[in-house]
Amino acid sequence: VDAMKGLILSGGKGTRLYPITYTSAKQLVPIANKPVLFRVIEAIRDAGITDIGIVVGDTAPEIQAAVGDGSRWGVRVQYIRQEAPLGLAHAVKISQGYLGDERFVMFLGDNVIQGGISRLISQFAASDWNCQIVLKEVAEPQHYGVAELDGDGRILRLVEKPREPRSNLALVGIYMFDHHVFEAVNAIRPSWRGELEITDAIQYLVDHGYRVYPYIHKGWWIDTGKPGDMLAANSLVLDEMEHRIEGFVDADSHIEGKVTVEKGAQVINSVIRGPAIIGEASRIVNSYIGPFTSIYHHVVIESSEIEHCIVLENSRLIDLPARLEDSLIGRNVEIVRSPIKPKAYKMTLGDNSRVGLL
Ligand code: G1P
Repeated sequence: VDAMKGLILSGGKGTRLYPITYTSAKQLVPIANKPVLFRVIEAIRDAGITDIGIVVGDTAPEIQAAVGDGSRWGVRVQYIRQEAPLGLAHAVKISQGYLGDERFVMFLGDNVIQGGISRLISQFAASDWNCQIVLKEVAEPQHYGVAELDGDGRILRLVEKPREPRSNLALVGIYMFDHHVFEAVNAIRPSWRGELEITDAIQYLVDHGYRVYPYIHKGWWIDTGKPGDMLAANSLVLDEMEHRIEGFVDADSHIEGKVTVEKGAQVINSVIRGPAIIGEASRIVNSYIGPFTSIYHHVVIESSEIEHCIVLENSRLIDLPARLEDSLIGRNVEIVRSPIKPKAYKMTLGDNSRVGLL
């Protein structure tokens, strides 16, 4: 699909993932040991698109250091700086110079979707539609943009996070446009939250007679805003990815089910029950790693039990007195049992940390 470009939005502060995102962009938090943003780049690349613009904000240096010029994926990446988080439609507006007259797919850099976007892209590329949006039936539509369709399945109305949703169809963070979207983003006014909303821009297209069609996505989709969403996306990806053992597993250990042990990792006298992944150069000793757990690079886990968790690089979990579950552990975190008296919990936690005790 050479006539189409990709546009990834990768700004924002990630406040709902504090404290993880004090020190790192939310799009770079790994799901099954691969940053969400890398998964987005691969989905666009796999749909045949090789020119990708990434809109960045305050976390620009970190995003650029991680992604570079895109050659690692065989794509050409250019960065577009958004000075302030003024909305998704604002991001489109400032990308006009990069996008020109070409059709493009816009993909929010924190969305994870099952099955990629190849089918979507080829459907839109072969059509004469001006815009195509992706919709997914969800249980709590009030947290998303919500679409109302007419009897023929065409878009009637889009409302951003309505208090009383008129349907259960949420807008997935993947949108396809042609150049008429610039007319829309230049015509709309900021919403009550001071942002140029993409839902308003699409509504403008509908109201002005442009051809806007939906694609109803049947697989899973997760907008990874909060820690629980990260864990849910992690579980889904771990369950369906291809697994491989490249690191060292000693004879006293048991590996059950879908497990990846990356190169340089060591599993000693431990049980790993998949789906799970152990990252490069990590050490698991005398421990139990349960289902739906991702251990990133250079982590040490000793004499501990952990299940349904994400642990980021360089963290150390040693001698935990109880099983750690449903947790998102950042980088360079230490959770250790101290033999020194008095017997007490001793913690150094960042702002907005959350700890659940027994
Ligand atoms: C944005 C859009 C919303 C869409 C959601 C999908 O919301 O405004 O319409 O449903 O992404 O991820 P945000 O996550 O920026 O609040």
